[in-house]
Amino acid sequence: MSKKRKIDLEGRMFQEKWKETYFFCEVNGRPVCLICSQAVAVQKEYNIKRHYEIHAEKYDKYTGQLRTEKVNNLALALKKKQSMFTKRTGTDEAVKASYLIANEIAAASKPFSEGEFVKKCMVKAAELVCPEKKQAFASISLSRNTVAERIEDLAGDLNRQLKDKVKSFIAFSIALDESTDINDVAQLGLFIRGVDGSLNITEEFVELVPMTDRTTSNDIYSSLIGALDRLEVDWSRAVSVATDGAPCMVGKKAGVVTKLKEKIQKENPTQEFWNFHCILHQEALCGKTLKMDNIMDVVIKTVNFIRAKGLNHRQFEAFLSEKTISHSLPYHTEVRWLSRGAVLKRFFQLRAEISQFMKDKGKPVTALDEPQWVRDLAFMVDVTEHLNVLNTKIQGRNKVVTEYYDCIRAFEMKLDLWATQLSQGNPAHFPTLKSVHTAHDKDNMDKYKEKILGLQNEFQHRFQVFSELEKEFSLFRSPFTASATDVPEELQLELIELQCNTSLKDKFATVTVDIFYQHLGPTFPKMTGFASKILSMFGTTYLCEQAFSVMNINKSNLRSRLTHRHLNDIMRVATAQKLVADVDALVEEKRCQVSGRRN
Ligand SMILES: *[C@@H]1O[C@H](CO)[C@@H](O)[C@H](O)[C@H]1NC(C)=O
Ligand SMILES: *[C@@H]1O[C@H](CO)[C@@H](O)[C@H](O)[C@H]1NC(C)=O
Repeated sequence: MSKKRKIDLEGRMFQEKWKETYFFCEVNGRPVCLICSQAVAVQKEYNIKRHYEIHAEKYDKYTGQLRTEKVNNLALALKKKQSMFTKRTGTDEAVKASYLIANEIAAASKPFSEGEFVKKCMVKAAELVCPEKKQAFASISLSRNTVAERIEDLAGDLNRQLKDKVKSFIAFSIALDESTDINDVAQLGLFIRGVDGSLNITEEFVELVPMTDRTTSNDIYSSLIGALDRLEVDWSRAVSVATDGAPCMVGKKAGVVTKLKEKIQKENPTQEFWNFHCILHQEALCGKTLKMDNIMDVVIKTVNFIRAKGLNHRQFEAFLSEKTISHSLPYHTEVRWLSRGAVLKRFFQLRAEISQFMKDKGKPVTALDEPQWVRDLAFMVDVTEHLNVLNTKIQGRNKVVTEYYDCIRAFEMKLDLWATQLSQGNPAHFPTLKSVHTAHDKDNMDKYKEKILGLQNEFQHRFQVFSELEKEFSLFRSPFTASATDVPEELQLELIELQCNTSLKDKFATVTVDIFYQHLGPTFPKMTGFASKILSMFGTTYLCEQAFSVMNINKSNLRSRLTHRHLNDIMRVATAQKLVADVDALVEEKRCQVSGRRN
């Protein structure tokens, strides 16, 4: 054998001495690190040595007998792991894949039956791309039942995690939001927002409570308590509840909120429990407060006439393109509120064309010929625009309630300004109205001013709790400028300590307020407790919106085939915020079940 070849061969063979020198052993002809189980691609001392250098700092200290022992122990552990791996056949991967795909299906709110379609596609692609693996893809079970079962498992796992998380809460709040859709079963979504000892926030969907006309606030109340007891919440840590202010929620005598408060204070008479009516449903808000149904009715009816029938819609498009107008009317049925604003705006812009088109169709919209009606429409366009801007602001994720409060306060001040300006006949911040308003239009301006005042009233009423909490909010936001004499006695001493702590003061300048409180640590238990309460309050309706958009997607589908349980599972998976289902554990569980059954 030539010398060179010999070296080459040696260089490619695993050397027993590498075991102790570099903590490596050979598995299936490849060198594998005993410490991190990583395989090194090239069987060469240089590569192996280089890999070992990652661990050298920690493992160089083992010498002599100790090193031998360490190596043997690690080798044993690896062997155990290996034997587990060899048992792990392709079926585990197939099961895992079905979990991941089911997760995608739920997250996108697709029907369970989509699984079969996805599989068909995968197998087709596999036939072309890797025909030898086709069977592996074909073995992934994605039948309707499997998908339903997988989603159930995923939801169950998330539920367990949430329950664990709830144990760590030092403060929590809940939110209840009713889906406003009338043409289907109304659902009440229950959400929880909790804060743990390190002031980390968890905000998650809890459960859907179905509602019928016969559902009483008593029923809702017991479902609610049931759901939260199942999560094993500690009621002495409850801080607040947010609702949309519907009568069955906030009724003085029998409302859900009153009952809840009674329950909590019965166990703990000194416990404060705040009640927010802060979930804005703009349809309701505008409908009830602005009383401009005569506008909305005409718009919706007309848009539906044009859009609902394919023929009308195509003709309308053709009609517009003759006039070289390229954007047609958006659908109004796709809405929650945001796109309703867009419909109004578009309707206003196209009003001349719409009027002409409807006349041609023999269905004239007389309202469009009335200047007064058009002005009202213009006013509505502007108001919905303003509300949409507000809504977008308070919809973002991860907000603290004080930011929500800031947005609302700003809006209330704007309402103030607008009312004053309108009373002076100046629609400065109502550009659409401005475009159709005539000078000396005093009566109209007064009318609009009244509407704005009505809105202001509604806001003040709804957000009353914010003014009650103003002191707390201001302490929370500006702990360094608050005066110790103005805060509750139990906080006073800690507040002074805090204000004189320069390192905390520096911290305050550089991080957001929610993060700042995480730095207080165990030296400030009272202030931490105080902050945890404020942090637990719902700062946005992001989660509610998200949850109901999941439900709305479903509406159009064959909802009747979906059980309440399934809907809950889908919601849990689709709206999960920070929780991630542990798919590997689920696969493991499945395997144990299967082998258990075989024995
Ligand atoms: C929507 O409805 C279909 C039909 O039953 C169902 O399979 C699917 O999972 C539903 N999705 C949601 C989000 O409810
Ligand atoms: C300032 O606050 C930090 C964080 O709680 C604490 O660790 C530190 O001891 C405080 N410094 C003084 C001087 O109290």
